[in-house]
Amino acid sequence: MRLKNPRATRPPGLRTLAARLARQGGGGNAGPALAVRAARASVDRVRRAMDLAVSRSPQSLFLRELVAQPAAMGALCASSPRLAQRMASWVDPAAPGLVVELGGGTGVITAALLARGVAPQRLVVVEQSAALAAHLARRFPQVHVVHGDAAELPRLAESPAWPRGEGGAPLAVRCIVSGLPLLSIPLPVRQRILHAGAQVLAPGGRLLQFTYAMRGPSLWQAAGLVGQARERVLANLPPARIDVLGHQAR
Ligand SMILES: C[S@@+](CC[C@H](N)C(=O)[O-])C[C@H]1O[C@@H](n2cnc3c(N)ncnc32)[C@H](O)[C@@H]1O
Repeated sequence: MRLKNPRATRPPGLRTLAARLARQGGGGNAGPALAVRAARASVDRVRRAMDLAVSRSPQSLFLRELVAQPAAMGALCASSPRLAQRMASWVDPAAPGLVVELGGGTGVITAALLARGVAPQRLVVVEQSAALAAHLARRFPQVHVVHGDAAELPRLAESPAWPRGEGGAPLAVRCIVSGLPLLSIPLPVRQRILHAGAQVLAPGGRLLQFTYAMRGPSLWQAAGLVGQARERVLANLPPARIDVLGHQAR
């Protein structure tokens, strides 16, 4: 039995393709230029396809953002479903007003809040990464996803895009659920975030923050909030602590 010549079945390489295109170009200098343009177009096509695949896979998206901006991501992977579910368990879905999630990432906690019964129209997610905000908007089309900085919360809450009540006034923020990596965020930005959050949280509202620091006070106490409860969640990498805070009772 004769073996096939492998060269006869192998797909043409770039050089062969370029030569073919050059011949089709009718001679002169147009052929090689056309070939280079065609090769570039196919590289661009492959790059776009890879970008699309990455943007559709939450894990790869998280990793890409971690490499691009490690301090803003502050974790090697997204929160575990258990941590997300425990965070959501502190939210009263029947309370009036908005639930505002800070640092939505790939949407693990957003999904847990919806599963808890928070109406998507009453849920606002603020995310500073454009790629993650786009991913969240695709994944949760009914949720208000804001591509913005948590430090700008008071300004964002005044913007026309912010959910409003029947009278047209911005809805009160009854609960803030923060997945922000406060410990790795530079101090001046962190301080602006803390004051912004405390400023928009309505009287009687509740703020939830998870942290990998298992001891010590919550950083939100520096903005005048007081601790009401805390819970350890070991089923997370690394284990985490949930702090529940609110305004000082008057
Ligand atoms: C550790 S990840 C948490 C993601 C998700 N909540 C979770 O638990 O898996 C932190 C997220 O906060 C976002 N983030 C960091 N600084 C922010 C800021 N100033 N404003 C809004 N989002 C921010 C990051 O882009 C990232 O998506």
